[in-house]
Amino acid sequence: TRFDGLSDALLDWYSAHARDLPWRIGPAQRAKGIPADPYRVWLAEIMLQQTTVPHAARYFEAFTRRWPTVVDLADAADADVMAAWAGLGYYARARNLLKCAREVVERGDWPRTETGLRELPGIGAYTAGAVAALAFNQRAPAVDGNVDRVFARLLAAKGEWKAEKAVIASLVRDLVPADRPAEFAEALMDLGATICTPKRPNCLICPVRSWCAAQAEGEPERYPIKPAR
Ligand code: ADE
Repeated sequence: TRFDGLSDALLDWYSAHARDLPWRIGPAQRAKGIPADPYRVWLAEIMLQQTTVPHAARYFEAFTRRWPTVVDLADAADADVMAAWAGLGYYARARNLLKCAREVVERGDWPRTETGLRELPGIGAYTAGAVAALAFNQRAPAVDGNVDRVFARLLAAKGEWKAEKAVIASLVRDLVPADRPAEFAEALMDLGATICTPKRPNCLICPVRSWCAAQAEGEPERYPIKPAR
């Protein structure tokens, strides 16, 4: 298809340029087959819905030092968790965080699939896909706003945004390589955060520029084209 070779090019780039983030496992661990910790992956995703990577990282360090496992968090007093969340905003997230931790402990473990994860409190389509891919290496798409932007540009998507997002979701699902779903998801996030940025994307160093219709048109910043709101 039109995107043959894109996943491999992206993964090659990621091998050299992966961001070192506290909730990720490093390449050395990955090479040894050490899996990511679903608790850490999930906690980071919930925090990242709320704030930037540097701000989330500070809260992430504090939370995981105080509550190193999902069992510890499930046992925490509500007021302690709410207080620790202060500064991240949107307290409904913190309440769902506790509910989710307690439900996981109650069930005995994390569900390992997108559909199973979707049933937990506070886990929507994006988070379910992200945790399934990042923690359980499932062929699930983790499409957030950054990944939508990357694909809006690759496709030079000019249609109605809601319809384009549906196209992107199914395209990404098809592009996830069977052997490296977690790295693929992380690579797309890093591409969106560091190269295919909202303003002034750095197409010169983009590993997937040869597949990018927006780059070929000459005005990648134009995408995504969203309805006025
Ligand atoms: N944005 C959303 N999830 C992320 C993750 N796991 N790492 C970096 N940025 C992200």
